[in-house]
Amino acid sequence: MTVDSPYPEMKKGHTMARVGRPWRDRKPPPSGPVWAIVQGFGSYWTLVAAIELGVFDAIALLGPTSAGPLADHMSVSARHLQHVCDALVTFGFLDQVDDVYELTETAERYLCTDGPASMAALVRVAPGPLANWEQLADTVRTGHVAQPIDDDPAAFYRPLVQATFPTQLRAASRLGLRLGWSRRPDLRVLDLGAGRAPWAIAILEQSPGSTAVVNDLPGVIELAVRTVDDRGLAHRVEFQPGDFHHIELEPGSFDVVVLGHVCRTEGHARARALVARAFQALKPEGQLLLADYFADNDRKHNPFGVQMGLTMVANTERGETLTNAQVCRWLDEAGFHAIRLLEPIGFNQVYVAARPASGPHGRPMEDRHDR
Ligand SMILES: C[S@@+](CC[C@H](N)C(=O)[O-])C[C@H]1O[C@@H](n2cnc3c(N)ncnc32)[C@H](O)[C@@H]1O
Repeated sequence: MTVDSPYPEMKKGHTMARVGRPWRDRKPPPSGPVWAIVQGFGSYWTLVAAIELGVFDAIALLGPTSAGPLADHMSVSARHLQHVCDALVTFGFLDQVDDVYELTETAERYLCTDGPASMAALVRVAPGPLANWEQLADTVRTGHVAQPIDDDPAAFYRPLVQATFPTQLRAASRLGLRLGWSRRPDLRVLDLGAGRAPWAIAILEQSPGSTAVVNDLPGVIELAVRTVDDRGLAHRVEFQPGDFHHIELEPGSFDVVVLGHVCRTEGHARARALVARAFQALKPEGQLLLADYFADNDRKHNPFGVQMGLTMVANTERGETLTNAQVCRWLDEAGFHAIRLLEPIGFNQVYVAARPASGPHGRPMEDRHDR
């Protein structure tokens, strides 16, 4: 191990000719970024515990409260609960004045189970199984995830799509306001890998007379059936269970095709093939909605997208980072035009792209697909 100077900030006499780089030796960087990662582990599990214990829901019910009455209400240890609450204050999820805790707006909106944009169920499932993160070094050594979610997709996706529904419905509903679905009646929609079908539901709720074909794997599609029924849309939806790479799709028959958060787990070749499938399924002038968490082209300016790519590598067989440039290239290669990128809610970006009225650049479609 190299020996650090006891007074690194005093080493003003160093020059480039002697030893080291003076601007580095004089003032070493702080260790804060390392501590931030170390404490990030505890922060995550504190939030998981708070949600599991129902801290946010209990404060929403009781109103501003100190740890004692809150612990009595929840039948837990007041001393331990107070430490959890203090940590939640440091995260910005609770306010504390004179030992009385109150929800912040962030907690009300995202962390209460019936909050308007609740992510309460999402926190535990979004990173994937804990064991995969504990084994990340092995995954990098071997190039294989020991227990990828692909081994039992229904077991992983059932809780995930339950948890993500409010977030994706919110994204899709806001996108619809931007794209004017309410002024576009009688659309025929295809939602591939629909989960609980938030994207198809948002379109049907805004666009009068529209109908949808909703696809997902057996074991997951039942959740879409139930959700569509609960929202009174069953008479407008047909369900097509099966693998979205292989189910039969009538070519040229949909006004809108949705690929909602399905590409990042697929790997580049299969995601590109899905984009091409979507193109074939669209009517001329039909629209693709491709929603995902993309990384910037240099894979360093959009930490959310970059880290989402690592989450895919840690948990799936083929999934990885998708950059904006890669997706744009697939869209272009498939023949799409009028490609736009919208961000209806934070981080959740959606490519909106159209199949041209005739073949791109006046050429027949077939010319494009053997490229
Ligand atoms: C991250 S979820 C996205 C769900 C939904 N589209 C949304 O945006 O909320 C991915 C979905 O794709 C489905 N899926 C994964 N592989 C699939 C396949 N080969 N065929 C059909 N569906 C698949 C999963 O079951 C899951 O419901």
